[in-house]
Amino acid sequence: MTGRVEGKVAFITGAAHGQGRSHAVRLAQEGADIIAIDACKRVVKDSPIPPATPEELAETADMVKSLNRRIFTAEVDVRDFDGLKAAVDAGVEELGGLDIIVANAGIGNGGDTLDQCSEHDWQEMIDVNLSGVWKTVKAGVPHLISGGKGGSIILTSSVGGLKAYPHCGNYVAAKHGVVGIMRSFAVELGQHSIRVNSVHPTHVSTGMIMNEGTWKMFRPDLENPGPDDMAPICQLFHTLPIPWVDAVDISNAVLFLASEEARYITGVTLPVDAGSCLK
Ligand SMILES: NC(=O)c1ccc[n+]([C@@H]2O[C@H](COP(=O)([O-])OP(=O)(O)OC[C@H]3O[C@@H](n4cnc5c(N)ncnc54)[C@H](O)[C@@H]3O)[C@@H](O)[C@H]2O)c1
Repeated sequence: MTGRVEGKVAFITGAAHGQGRSHAVRLAQEGADIIAIDACKRVVKDSPIPPATPEELAETADMVKSLNRRIFTAEVDVRDFDGLKAAVDAGVEELGGLDIIVANAGIGNGGDTLDQCSEHDWQEMIDVNLSGVWKTVKAGVPHLISGGKGGSIILTSSVGGLKAYPHCGNYVAAKHGVVGIMRSFAVELGQHSIRVNSVHPTHVSTGMIMNEGTWKMFRPDLENPGPDDMAPICQLFHTLPIPWVDAVDISNAVLFLASEEARYITGVTLPVDAGSCLK
């Protein structure tokens, strides 16, 4: 099946690499034009997670253009509402409308138990992973409403938005909060035929987990662990015999929710979790 989002415009945050890039490419493959934003800088000081770069955002743009779709890009931090609004307004002006919002940008962390979490780490997580999602939707929604054609909003939460893991309580709290944002927008925007849902990935093989710091967190017993050493531990989380999913697995769920195939689905928390929520 092709053209599942033909002629639509999608606003995607965190699109320079990882899942956001994959969403941009997957939606473009099915006919969408893209408004892609990313901070393109180190957001969390001393994080082992590789920061996105302006060059990577430009590569995402090249990938979308090679599919004969149009793309508008901007370097914006999701904590900056005015910056988000200026970017989405300019993107809509250039591309002619807005139909889909994918609030994907996020930071990961890990290490401290919640009682030991510093106020700085707590606040930074809430500002990016919770308030940033709200600001993204707030910036885009006026265009969905004024377009008068309805729309689809997809918020990236996590399995950590449906159940708790130790040593990342601020992340778990923010990702549970994303569900509250999703449900609130769903009840408020339904009258405009705007659907709002969240996706809940398990481990995804992006830079967020494919980095030395995460391998060491999963395998503190080894001096120089790599992905193969982390895999058996990651697999314990799942019912299916796999350690992690690929970014495209999340993109396919996003595409489904964005498409007319999901036209009456709203307010849903959709895990892409290899059965993690069963455990
Ligand atoms: N990778 C996983 O295992 C996993 C699992 C569950 C949920 N998630 C969620 O999926 C989403 C995408 O993560 P990913 O796996 O692609 O990780 P990633 O680190 O590869 O990509 C995250 C992207 O978000 C951008 N970003 C971060 N903070 C930003 C900010 N303040 N403003 C603008 N852009 C910002 C980064 O620059 C980067 O491009 C995140 O919300 C993450 O929490 C990831």
